Amino acid sequence: MNVEKILSQMTLEEKVNFCQGANKWETTGVPRLGIPAVWVSDGPIGIRREENAYKENVEGFAPTRKAVCFPAMAGVTASFDPGLAADLGENIADAAKGEQVDVVLGPAANIKRSPLCGRNFEYMSEDPFLAGKIAAGYIKGVQSKKVGTSLKHFAANGQETRRFTISEKISERALREIYLPAFENAVKDAKPWTVMCSYNKINDIFSSHNSWLLTDVLRDDWGYEGLVMSDWVAVNDHARSVSSGLSLEMPRSGDYEDGYLADSVRNGTVSEEELNREVRRLLELTKLCLEGRETAAEYDKGQQHHQARRLARESMVLLKNDGGLLPLEGKTCCFIGDFAQAPRYQGGGSSHIESTEVLSAVDAVRSVAKVSYARGFDADGDSMSDEQLAEAVALAKTTDVAVLFLGLPDAYESEGYDRRHMHLPACQEKLLYEVLKVQPNVCVVLHNGAPVEMPWVDSVPAILEAYLGGQACGGAVVDLLFGAVSPCGKLAETFPLKLEDNPSYLNFPGFRDEVVYAEDIYVGYRYYDKKKMDVLFPFGHGLTYTTFAYDDLKLSSDTFRPGEKLTVSVRVTNTGKTAAKEIVQFYVRPDHEGKPRPVRELKGFGKILLQPGESGTVTAELDDRSFAYWSDETHDWFVEAGRYVIEAAASSRDIRCEESVNVENKPLKLHIGRETFVGDVRRIAGADELLEGFIGKEAFARINPWLCEHALYHVLCMVSQKHIREDDFDALVKKLNDLQK
Ligand code: BGC
Repeated sequence: MNVEKILSQMTLEEKVNFCQGANKWETTGVPRLGIPAVWVSDGPIGIRREENAYKENVEGFAPTRKAVCFPAMAGVTASFDPGLAADLGENIADAAKGEQVDVVLGPAANIKRSPLCGRNFEYMSEDPFLAGKIAAGYIKGVQSKKVGTSLKHFAANGQETRRFTISEKISERALREIYLPAFENAVKDAKPWTVMCSYNKINDIFSSHNSWLLTDVLRDDWGYEGLVMSDWVAVNDHARSVSSGLSLEMPRSGDYEDGYLADSVRNGTVSEEELNREVRRLLELTKLCLEGRETAAEYDKGQQHHQARRLARESMVLLKNDGGLLPLEGKTCCFIGDFAQAPRYQGGGSSHIESTEVLSAVDAVRSVAKVSYARGFDADGDSMSDEQLAEAVALAKTTDVAVLFLGLPDAYESEGYDRRHMHLPACQEKLLYEVLKVQPNVCVVLHNGAPVEMPWVDSVPAILEAYLGGQACGGAVVDLLFGAVSPCGKLAETFPLKLEDNPSYLNFPGFRDEVVYAEDIYVGYRYYDKKKMDVLFPFGHGLTYTTFAYDDLKLSSDTFRPGEKLTVSVRVTNTGKTAAKEIVQFYVRPDHEGKPRPVRELKGFGKILLQPGESGTVTAELDDRSFAYWSDETHDWFVEAGRYVIEAAASSRDIRCEESVNVENKPLKLHIGRETFVGDVRRIAGADELLEGFIGKEAFARINPWLCEHALYHVLCMVSQKHIREDDFDALVKKLNDLQK
């Protein structure tokens, strides 16, 4: 396919038409020139292939083909394993090929700002470094099979409330340090074929026509070469979108758009070159998709169901296991709670999959142990009859352990709306408290897409966070509960003690069409650590059925200079009796006075499988970005000189070993003017000599520590007792600037 030749043969009308989808799921193609449409479908954890793209209007969901539903990305990220995400991606690509889908609409790399966001189950983490690695792994997996991805929702789609109109007020630093890096890493490392813009505005500009976001950042800074499509009905001004770097409006808004865009080109509001640029990108995507169609796939839904179970095992997090209550081997137990036979295994909205089958824990446990079951409550709401309660409590007494399957009903969290609180339904808590009266050995298994409050945490010895574990989740839960494998996931988000502790609490979901990100860069553990607050479960926390010792933390050098790499490694030993995987986290903690920053930030991680008694080494490589912060002054990353502690940790609150490194760099250039703080000027090497030469020895001697806290120009005039001429002062500033080169 010769892109330039086709472009040169297209009429204005064809180009304009091509820039909008033909319907909900297909591009338009250029039939006259033999260019076919390509098909896009939602992921990211299964393929939601509608039978007929024309069937429903844009708001509705039509029936879809059946597919295997894998664990939600909230859980997949808890694996801290980009390889596992790639594995998922490969399975999704096989399914896409099997269903004739060219581009999968995912993954979603938005940062979890508030636990209330209705789509948190689809998002990866509160930490951009982790989210970026998992997103890149997933994209590489899908695209290795020549199926495209759409990295979404670019950017800062942090809430569902008013998502089509909300303006997210975010500082440049918070964007660069928190809300953009996951996208940045995925774009640079994995090169997604497409990026999907978000619905919301960032600082008053819709993402669909934000040229700073879509061109300056995405293309000029990060070197992105694929195309940007809109989220569904995210375009508000198609002409402006095309000029800003958006190629494809999905789905089409109708004939009025054709006229508007064509007229905008005719009257010069959009240049022919801008339109051609986007058409070229669409043709390039079509070319990739056509090449992709030439490779076959192995698509076996039964096999994928087994894969889903394997992935789910790595996506669940053992939050608590007092007294080694788990695994259940050798103990009698009962299952209580509707989720044990009807698990909640996926979230609502565009990612919802028509699953091929569902494996509940009640079904899965039959081949492992004889376990009796009581429903307890109805999973789809907040209701429990007296009989259900009585039956559950009576059953709980009869066994060594009672396993309670609790969680959030579908109606609580979904695309399209945010949660209002972090509680479990009241009936489930009541059931739990009643069971605890007769049975202290309780294990709670949670089915939820985002953190819940646990006022009962101290009374419950074991808690397994199963997240929304995909259609085979019951099997995975049974595998973990009975010790077929050890749990190994760790939290990719903090569980706060209560909603009010969350840093976005005062500003979520905002008022009318504006939400202010007043917490700035202090999101998730960056906030809780800075404020020294207790949390329910910290970022990075997760238990296994064994214990690990960490030692021998090594840095490849005790000094780091920008442009270099620093290798950090730590030895981990399995000191228990069970084989298990340990996720090791490397945090960087600035240990000098300087720019206000989070206490620690995740900059590396690794996972290792160790047999009892076995040791192994986990390694990570640090670079400039591991030490840098975003400077709003220079609009660039800056590595501040000073001491930094490198921590090897089992969680963000369980630091096992640390070593420090001296980072060398020139200080950030100070912008000097009449009102600059004198003390800052005098910190520049050579500044004192210059000032002394300028105002004379005696006058210079009068600049005491108190005057050092005042504004430069006025101090110089005061100590020299004369009005300094503008020209002379400017010449002095120039010399001070030269000293900083
Ligand atoms: C969602 C996207 C999804 C698209 C197509 C939108 O409402 O925000 O994530 O890919 O619909 O279903």
